[in-house]
Amino acid sequence: MPTVLDGKHVVLGVCGSIAAYKSVDLASKLVQLGALVDVVMTDGATRFVGPISYQGITHRPVVTDLFSPSSELSMDHVALAQKADIVLIAPATANVVAKLACGLADDALTATVLATNAPIAIAPAGDANMFGNPVTKANLDTLRKRGVHVIGPVTGRLASGMVGEGRLEAPERIIGHVRMLIGKSGDLAGAKVVVSAGGTQEPIDPVRYVGNRSSGKMGFAIAEAARDRGAAVTLITSPVSIAEPVGVKRVDVRTALEMRDAVLAASKDADLLVMSAAVADFRPEAPVQEKIKRRAEERLELKLVRNPDIIAEASGRRLVKIAFAVETSNLLENARAKLDSKNVSLVVANDVTKPGVGFGTDTNQVTIVAPDGSVEEVPLMDKFGVAQRVLDRAATLLKTRKS
Ligand code: PMT
Repeated sequence: MPTVLDGKHVVLGVCGSIAAYKSVDLASKLVQLGALVDVVMTDGATRFVGPISYQGITHRPVVTDLFSPSSELSMDHVALAQKADIVLIAPATANVVAKLACGLADDALTATVLATNAPIAIAPAGDANMFGNPVTKANLDTLRKRGVHVIGPVTGRLASGMVGEGRLEAPERIIGHVRMLIGKSGDLAGAKVVVSAGGTQEPIDPVRYVGNRSSGKMGFAIAEAARDRGAAVTLITSPVSIAEPVGVKRVDVRTALEMRDAVLAASKDADLLVMSAAVADFRPEAPVQEKIKRRAEERLELKLVRNPDIIAEASGRRLVKIAFAVETSNLLENARAKLDSKNVSLVVANDVTKPGVGFGTDTNQVTIVAPDGSVEEVPLMDKFGVAQRVLDRAATLLKTRKS
């Protein structure tokens, strides 16, 4: 499924840092996501990695010299700068940070940055003392004030063996920032979107709970896709083992009651609520404080009480609500009943008895049911693709909702 990077021109600036080798992987990942990547290297960068590595990955010429006759920049100093949808420098050294802060343009990379109107993102990397130096800090602040998006550096083991702040942010996370910046003017720009994910855990005793097999993948994909389309996203999740997308506000909860509080609070001034969490309809009535011990009796009875229906309760002045629904039979009939009982604009039903559908899978196949009786069948595809199809419908609902 195409991402927001598909067909976008990314100018990737590389500076002379040992972390330059990581930007080869970064270039590869950007290309795999559909970006057209033009690499511009400083002289220092070419001492660490050969331009041929980038050329092989991007299938495009690599610019290393402002004055080279073969350089696109030599014919038109601003060619790449004008074409760029974003200029990303990763790794950015303290030296290049200083040049950018002063507005210097004495090589192909700094000339490109000075000439572009595209968003600029830099991911610094280098020695902790160089980045801790007040002059570098001041230079980074200057760049931030001018609207440059600074990614990292992060704390960890550095090439010198020291542990400190100076490591290049992970390529996946750098790409998350790039997607967020490129998506800022998407069709959900300005929208506040709340997404719930994962399966709630209802305690029986301190070590056991009533739960389900939700991995959070569907909800996290919706959050990522909404972020890519310019929304401000709050992701309310039960414990899952995946990292939240860059730029998304994560709220951790465990039980249905905690999820209810978080969803109701976040939805008050939101535009869209997508409940993809598998919320327990019932919880143990009286969880015990001590671990329940093995005993002689053959049976142990657990009394359950009903949880509130969160999505039915959620309300906001202009809130559009979309419910996912797990079905194992009579999918359409059950989904239509949920439109009414949950008071939602759409139900996205998945038949979890089918292979590749529902809990824990990387793919999903859903049927989107609307109050006007229309039914949209979305074929089996990755969860990010399903998220995009659901958000296509959400974007239309947001445009046509009454004020
Ligand atoms: O997380 P994954 O492994 O990727 O799996 C994805 C998924 C299968 C969990 C997801 O695609 C999905 O179907 N989520 C909804 C699961 C569910 O709870 O279905 P339901 O039919 O029981 O509930 C319908 C809707 O009411 C859901 O939006 C649910 O969040 C909401 N609900 C349910 C109970 C409750 N007490 N409060 C609620 O708000």
